[in-house]
Amino acid sequence: MKKFFPVYVRVPLLFAIFFFAIEWIIGGESGKPAFMEHPVVLILLGLFLFALIAVEIVASATNKILDRLMTPEERAAKAKEESLPFAESPWVKRLMKKLTKTKEIHEESDIMMDHDYDGIKELDNDLPPWWVGLFYVTFIFAVIYLLRFHVFDGDSQVVEYEKEMIAAKEQVEEYKKTAPDMLTADQAVFSDDPAVLAAGKQLFDTNCAMCHKADGGGAIGPNLTDDHWILGGGMKNVFNTISEGGRPGKGMVPWKSNFKPSEIEKIASYVISLNGTTPAEAKAPEGDIIWSKAELANEGGEAEAAPAEENTEASSDNTEVSAE
Ligand code: HEC
Repeated sequence: MKKFFPVYVRVPLLFAIFFFAIEWIIGGESGKPAFMEHPVVLILLGLFLFALIAVEIVASATNKILDRLMTPEERAAKAKEESLPFAESPWVKRLMKKLTKTKEIHEESDIMMDHDYDGIKELDNDLPPWWVGLFYVTFIFAVIYLLRFHVFDGDSQVVEYEKEMIAAKEQVEEYKKTAPDMLTADQAVFSDDPAVLAAGKQLFDTNCAMCHKADGGGAIGPNLTDDHWILGGGMKNVFNTISEGGRPGKGMVPWKSNFKPSEIEKIASYVISLNGTTPAEAKAPEGDIIWSKAELANEGGEAEAAPAEENTEASSDNTEVSAE
């Protein structure tokens, strides 16, 4: 045994087992290891290591003394035993014997049955204990299983699955809250924070001004300052238009691959902030949806959903008309 686990393997191994056992039992709550959270654990670990080394020193000293006391024959026998390969070492053999209860060849006559088929004979071996043990384990498992799932109504796989899905959904929601870039049109909120509007303006000037003019007066694209909207006003619709683009073939492409959703939210805020301003050269109003910045106050949360739906309907009507 000693040969296969020398001191330099034994000590670190035992120490590691002890260490992880403590981690597992106490466990740092904040994700920190237990020994950093509770300094007592550090002392405990130190003591354990100290004890381990002390035991090793005492054991090796005792062994040395025992060795001195041995007769040369005993010493030779011990050396021989230690030089055996792992599978033949006495304790492995004893263990195998216990697990299998096999009979030595010379004992086979005791269990030979009188069945003889063309020289093929049968031995009446005991069932191997490892196998019988497993069999009992299945009994215990079955009883626990029966009680848990059929008597005490444990969760079925379907219920487990559903619970996990709900938990996962909660996690996703939690994640979305703190990750602005998972933002959708429904969650976008208008902000009149100057920093947000400045960031929005910068993106607008470099990407949008060529078609909508820097002041939003409109050129290829429609005037963004008036109260007439082709695709709908309000945060949700403007966010959607920027992200998904306008009607096919009109020139307003989807921008969602160019900007992060948090950036689109800023641009949308800036676009809405342009509403009601007076551009130098205003393009004539286009679109039948009337929406002005004043309506922002009525928006927010659920209230936004209703008018937004109307808008989509109106704009699809619009498309039909223009298609005819
Ligand atoms: C290539 C020219 C072009 C560029 C660049 C462009 N747009 Fe447009 N935009 C248009 C056109 C054309 C429309 C009308 C789309 C339609 O009729 O469906 C439009 C429509 C819009 C609308 C909807 C207006 C309404 O009345 O409903 C918004 C909002 C808008 N653009 C914002 C932007 C923003 C923000 C950018 C920059 C990220 C941008 N646009 C870049 C051409 C452009």
